[in-house]
Amino acid sequence: MRNFSLTSNFVEISKERKHIISGAMNFLLLFLLLLINSNGVSCSPPVLPVKCDTSGCAVSNAYGIFPDRSTCRAAAAVFPSSEEELVAAVAAGSRNKQKMRVVTRWSHSIPKLVCPGGEEGLIISTQELKRVVSVDEESMRMSVESGAALRDIISAAADYNLALPQTPYWTGLTIGGILCTGAHGSSLFGKGSAVHEYVVGMRLVAPLSGGNASVVTLNSSHADLDAAKVSLGLLGVISQVTLQLQPMFKRSITNVKKDETDLEQSIVEFARTHEFGDVTWYPGQRKVVYRIDGRVPVNQSGDGVNDFIGFRQTLTAGLAITRSAEELQESTKDAKGKCMTARIQVGALQSIGSGFKNNDLGFYTYPIVGYHNKLQAAGSCLNSTQDLLLTACPWDPRIKGEFFHQTTMKISMTKISDFITDIKKLRDLNPSGLCGVELYNGILMRFVKASSAYLGANEDSVDLDFTYYRSKDPLVPRLDEDMLEEIEQMGLFKYGGTPHWGKNRNIAFQGVLNKYKKGGDFLKAMKKYDPEGLFSNEWTDGVLGIGKEGVVIDKDGCALEGLCLCAEDRHCAPHKGYFCWAGRVYTDARVCRYEG
Ligand SMILES: *[C@@H]1O[C@H](CO)[C@@H](O)[C@H](O)[C@H]1NC(C)=O
Ligand SMILES: *[C@@H]1O[C@H](CO)[C@@H](O)[C@H](O)[C@H]1NC(C)=O
Ligand SMILES: *[C@@H]1O[C@H](CO)[C@@H](O)[C@H](O)[C@H]1NC(C)=O
Ligand SMILES: *[C@@H]1O[C@H](CO)[C@@H](O)[C@H](O)[C@H]1NC(C)=O
Repeated sequence: MRNFSLTSNFVEISKERKHIISGAMNFLLLFLLLLINSNGVSCSPPVLPVKCDTSGCAVSNAYGIFPDRSTCRAAAAVFPSSEEELVAAVAAGSRNKQKMRVVTRWSHSIPKLVCPGGEEGLIISTQELKRVVSVDEESMRMSVESGAALRDIISAAADYNLALPQTPYWTGLTIGGILCTGAHGSSLFGKGSAVHEYVVGMRLVAPLSGGNASVVTLNSSHADLDAAKVSLGLLGVISQVTLQLQPMFKRSITNVKKDETDLEQSIVEFARTHEFGDVTWYPGQRKVVYRIDGRVPVNQSGDGVNDFIGFRQTLTAGLAITRSAEELQESTKDAKGKCMTARIQVGALQSIGSGFKNNDLGFYTYPIVGYHNKLQAAGSCLNSTQDLLLTACPWDPRIKGEFFHQTTMKISMTKISDFITDIKKLRDLNPSGLCGVELYNGILMRFVKASSAYLGANEDSVDLDFTYYRSKDPLVPRLDEDMLEEIEQMGLFKYGGTPHWGKNRNIAFQGVLNKYKKGGDFLKAMKKYDPEGLFSNEWTDGVLGIGKEGVVIDKDGCALEGLCLCAEDRHCAPHKGYFCWAGRVYTDARVCRYEG
């Protein structure tokens, strides 16, 4: 008895200490957050994904790491700066029967899309293929090379008073990368939020047998455009894209914070009534932020700007402290500390408009009214002059900063309410178990319309983005990881969710092609444009279910990184107290849970 109470006293004391540490950290974080906006400070340009030396080349992504932490190599890299050079590169690859893959300038896809098969392949970078080719003001169409960055497309269109109505929120993507992975904004209006819905023409460079290559021109009367619009880079190389634009317009944005109680009832109606609306859920705080966002007349006054805080140049010292705080909370299993940090961090962000500004000077109040081109996306951390690591994008792999997993899936509008209800049930069983996602801006929900693209959305859907802590050590389990693992499997298997092609961990892609009605048609198109399979790699073969190996990797600790679903305890971290358990709400799930 005595012993027992001593132990529990000890537990109490150490808990208290944890809270004091958390409290101090929180204060520091708040202080840093206010400092973080460091305009005028020199910033390091993002890391370039291709590195070559005399022994060959290595290719990676913007995070410097793939889900399975392996590296990938190739014999050579080319940087064509015109369509002729691109044709020559593909012809040479074809002549050498070399595996080829395309990598974009900054390479933001998380999975291993950029690796040429084997180790002797050819990397084709679109870094120098970035021009705006033409703008036709009358038809409101714009042709750009595949490496053109979203920020440059947006500003070139705006020069003609035109707008690309829907885009992802981060400007550091290229049009080729956006299309290959099906990237999108948020809308069920008009053609919907996927950028590929605005594609009316494409020029592809495809390999020809006999060691040659040809330019294929597709427009909206070619059925193959539905294969090429979202292609995972498997139909040759995109050379140019023609986009259908609209006259420039203005929007009005107001973020409204509410209790989460009726989220599952209100989300569908919300999607149907706000053209650019999205929803961010903070499940630890039981709060939801609805982004009320729609068009307003151009004569409504306002010159708003979206300079989202998460995409700004950030002080590297602040990033290191934030990361250390989270590492400490992880190692001391301080879930309540995470909730406390999240509350302060989210509150501070919201109080300064999360990066929305009424004009160039700052944020005063909602609504934010302004031109679409200044509100649709953000990415000021891309701007850089010198290679000083005083500030950087928060996930820059050269500094100690953000390091995360991202689980992102589309759930049919008809099933989203049930999914949310299940997530709430699970959260109620462990109320502080989902605070971790709030440290990465909460669960972002965006709307995507059904698409004719073979690998586009099957039906009107909600795309949910969960971003969460990843340990630098692959064998160290994550605090309350069973929670997000159960949600991941619930979304993918119980609710038939389809993963974002450019995000996610391996298990999300297991058997994924079977979820697409037109999956078979996509395979046929792939055979037609690349009969020798020069553009496929081990990853794309695994994803499409046509490889020798699937996407699952079976080894000790594999479930910790989403490389497998646990079937045995060794797939988790039994020596650290994490064992393979059934899910609590979705009992078919297999998750690594701490049994302390
Ligand atoms: C490659 O194809 C083009 C036209 O498609 C042709 O002009 C050229 O001669 C071909 N080159 C080789 C080496 O076959
Ligand atoms: C599409 O391209 C074909 C040539 O391949 C052309 O005949 C047709 O007019 C084009 N259609 C449109 C809608 O541009
Ligand atoms: C904006 O334009 C509309 C129609 O052109 C007009 O009725 C309205 O009064 C204008 N509003 C302002 C604030 O100028
Ligand atoms: C960032 O750089 C781009 C391209 O150089 C430029 O067009 C843009 O105005 C810059 N943005 C800011 C916020 O400095």
